[in-house]
Amino acid sequence: MGNKNNDGCYSTPASRKIPANGGVTGSNGAASTSSSSGVDPLLEHSFKHLLTEELGCARPDSAGSCSPPRSLHETFTSDRNDEYWPVEQREQVRTPRLMHTWHCDQSILSLTSTKKWIIAGSGNGDILVFNKETFETEFVLKGHAGSVYSLALTEDERFLFSGSADSLVKVWDLETMEDVWTIYSVYDIGDVFTIAWAPSHEYLFLGAQNASIQWIRLYEKGSYNTTKDPSGLPSIRYDRFFDSKGPGGRITPQQSATATPKKYSGTSALLEIPPKSVIPFAHFSYVYSLLVIKRTITHGSTSIEEEFLVSGGGDGTAKIWNFNTDGTIEQLYTLDTESSVFSMCCQDSFLYCGLSAGQVCIIDLDTRQVIRNDKLGDDDVMTMSLYRECLFRGGNRYVRKWDSKRYHRGEWLAHDGLVLATVLAVSNGRTLLVTGGNDSVVSMWDITATLEHSVSSKDSVLLQSSFNSTNAIMFFNQMTNGQYGIKTKKINEGTDEEVTVAPLTLDHMMETLRSFVSYKTVSGHDDKYMNDCRRCATFLKSVFKHFGADSQLLPLEQGGNPIVYARFSGTGNVDASKRASRILFYGHYDVISAEKNGQWTTDPFEMTNMDGYMYGRGVSDNKGPILAAIFAVAELVQRSELSNDIVFLIEGEEECGSAGFQEAVNRHKALIGDIDWVLLSNSYWLDDETPCLNYGLRGIIKASIEIKGDLPDLHSGVHGGVYREPTFDLVNLLAKLATDQGEIVLPEFHNSVRPVGNQERALYEAIVNRPKRATTTTMTPAGQGSSSEDKDADIETLMGRWRYPSLTIHKITVSGPGNSTLIPQSATASLSLRIVPDQDLEVIKASLTSFLHAQFAKFKSDNHLTVSIYHEAEPWVGDPGNRAFELLRTIIAEEWGTEPLFIREGGSIPAVRFLEKAFCAPAAQLPCGQASDGAHLDNERLRVLNFGKAKEIFLKTFRDLV
Ligand code: BES
Ligand code: MN
Repeated sequence: MGNKNNDGCYSTPASRKIPANGGVTGSNGAASTSSSSGVDPLLEHSFKHLLTEELGCARPDSAGSCSPPRSLHETFTSDRNDEYWPVEQREQVRTPRLMHTWHCDQSILSLTSTKKWIIAGSGNGDILVFNKETFETEFVLKGHAGSVYSLALTEDERFLFSGSADSLVKVWDLETMEDVWTIYSVYDIGDVFTIAWAPSHEYLFLGAQNASIQWIRLYEKGSYNTTKDPSGLPSIRYDRFFDSKGPGGRITPQQSATATPKKYSGTSALLEIPPKSVIPFAHFSYVYSLLVIKRTITHGSTSIEEEFLVSGGGDGTAKIWNFNTDGTIEQLYTLDTESSVFSMCCQDSFLYCGLSAGQVCIIDLDTRQVIRNDKLGDDDVMTMSLYRECLFRGGNRYVRKWDSKRYHRGEWLAHDGLVLATVLAVSNGRTLLVTGGNDSVVSMWDITATLEHSVSSKDSVLLQSSFNSTNAIMFFNQMTNGQYGIKTKKINEGTDEEVTVAPLTLDHMMETLRSFVSYKTVSGHDDKYMNDCRRCATFLKSVFKHFGADSQLLPLEQGGNPIVYARFSGTGNVDASKRASRILFYGHYDVISAEKNGQWTTDPFEMTNMDGYMYGRGVSDNKGPILAAIFAVAELVQRSELSNDIVFLIEGEEECGSAGFQEAVNRHKALIGDIDWVLLSNSYWLDDETPCLNYGLRGIIKASIEIKGDLPDLHSGVHGGVYREPTFDLVNLLAKLATDQGEIVLPEFHNSVRPVGNQERALYEAIVNRPKRATTTTMTPAGQGSSSEDKDADIETLMGRWRYPSLTIHKITVSGPGNSTLIPQSATASLSLRIVPDQDLEVIKASLTSFLHAQFAKFKSDNHLTVSIYHEAEPWVGDPGNRAFELLRTIIAEEWGTEPLFIREGGSIPAVRFLEKAFCAPAAQLPCGQASDGAHLDNERLRVLNFGKAKEIFLKTFRDLV
């Protein structure tokens, strides 16, 4: 057997996306559309101008001048960084915590939120749907050919409306994520800047660049033109660039020949806005913003809700429109705002108009008077969100908060460009402000703390107050429908009393992981991180205790980081034919070192959430998986569904060979008890798509080889040419370990390797024959679609990584100051051998030592050789057909909707085989993260979705493995 290619254990596939500066790309969609509106092009505050000139940051040519979003995270993810807000009066306001960021391809121009999703409209016409729980980009709705300026929702959150620079409004069914209707106007309206949904009347309004307001009654679509005949579509009847008239007002033949192909490829039904539903010059300028407001009038026990439309224009007015019974609207009155109204919101009969140059004008809708003009910053207020009396306005790079009641104001650096969209959302009992900018980033801020003083129990009453905008009502609906507590029995107090405890949400898991990661638990560095390691062990103990476990620290006899022991006692109640089991979960809280500089785009010890991932040292190896297991048991305890005993052994010396672990476990055998199964989760999927189960690890022998002379370090010019140099002896000796072709020639190295059986080969075949998905990482041997020779080669590669031994020379160091004029006195190589069944650890160790000494003897050198073995671990191969693996397989298939691959790994975890032998209990491993997690590398990460699923898989396993 040749020297196997041992790559890939820790490598990051080339395709892995590191989002450090991924945000600033492309041009804004608005920049590529020109238009034919009938509006005076010299109008003072042009939305167009803003979106083409000021959005310059989003263009490729100026992208270099923008620093990547990373710098923002560095400064503002920390909740220790409290001093930021420049506070006008009294209290300090905390900087909101940045909960998550998503890096998109283009500017974010619009946002909305449902109970489940954050939805963002982008500059390239895509609508991005992010899951609020897992942070995955769950859907990308494609259909618009221009920037999505505006989004709206029906109150039941079933339909999403999008208005775009392509002159269209689309209606998306959020149950199927399909584009069901495409609404267009027979007029050339230019860009649709704003849309609004009036729920009681079922009208969808649009405000456009040609100064018109248009609408359509949606649920009566039968009465409209809903054919798929595309001839009326604006893109087909007229192309704004190619079809515009040349000098003399003629369309030249060349122009029509090069015109964009005129076809409609959409699947949605087309809906034409009837001519009677158009107010051509609603404003003397662009219609920038529309808002539907409600007024509730209560007469005794009956209350009537009235809807009005408010429009804000570039002409410096806001207008209130009434709905007529004949399906038309009529202007009630005009409010003067003196400058362009870019954004609006409404609460308690106050209409807030976001104007140019940082101004917000507040109008009392009852008296129609401007009651206040507030200026904060100098940037045009393109977006606002209002939570009770706190107004958040988007500006250039900043979000500015104004508490209109307490006169608190503050700002925080939120984007690397203009903040163009904001929306309030609720998740896990937190109030969130989601912001989007022309830096192509969507950020989610937890503003709960900044609102504390303004939240009152009056929230439900608020719905009845005189005026509210429908989006505010939707936000409050989200707030009140959320369930923020579950009933459970009190833990460990022997009472049956029902108490309400916080549910163990993914959010709670992430918060705990954030704390866990903040401890710098780098092992093997003696004193430097000892304190962090101890504090982390204590932290873990308190997490265990909090969830009802017995927990204590087990010290190591020779010093080193203690083991955290914990035991959750099950009820023992299982079917008569079965016996409750005692499961040992093994993990390690120590991590590989990580320096903030290097390639890390975030602080490795301050967990940062981006694009559906958590970044930080140890999130995947092994802190995240450990917490998934703890939360799984905690949830079973809370639900009174834990019948098995679960013992946790979480050590702190794994990354440097688990020295002292065996001794400590042997010493505490009685405490740990009779174990039936060993479970762990400290490995990764084979790619980023397919869930896996792991049934094997290689063992390891770590050795250092030193050759030392009797003389001190010498100057090579003065002494060179006289002595046998230790470094020469060392490289010559190392060279004896392999042929010139790299084949390892160590005696006994290959002959005892277990031959490949038929069943084993079948497992490898299943791996290389798996269906290959589009985004599979490049490191992975090819799946379906490659030739049988390719597949044989892939099997060889996998076997080389997992079931054949390997030998690596990690580094060679020399004594002395290391400059290139010296003959070092000594040279040391560190190497490791990964070993496999049925190699005998002792035989291989002896072979290595005696082979090196025998070879060295032949050198007849005056120098001295020392071979020392400082770590060793036996390989582990589990039984993929046993009950634990069978159960895990079923649960994974249930959770992920696809069968797992059974894989082995080339890496080593010294404790596994030892625990199997010590307790006569078979081990099984659930790989938690993906191949691209980058354990031991910079930017280690774990996908939020995998974290949540691992908890679910462990929960069912701990519950059902009897
Ligand atoms: N999680 C790894 C083990 C691992 C590595 C699993 C690669 C799957 C693929 C573990 O934390 C680790 O790093 N082990 C060390 C052990 C050594 C220091 C004794 C290793 O494999 O190098
Ligand atoms: Mn590791």
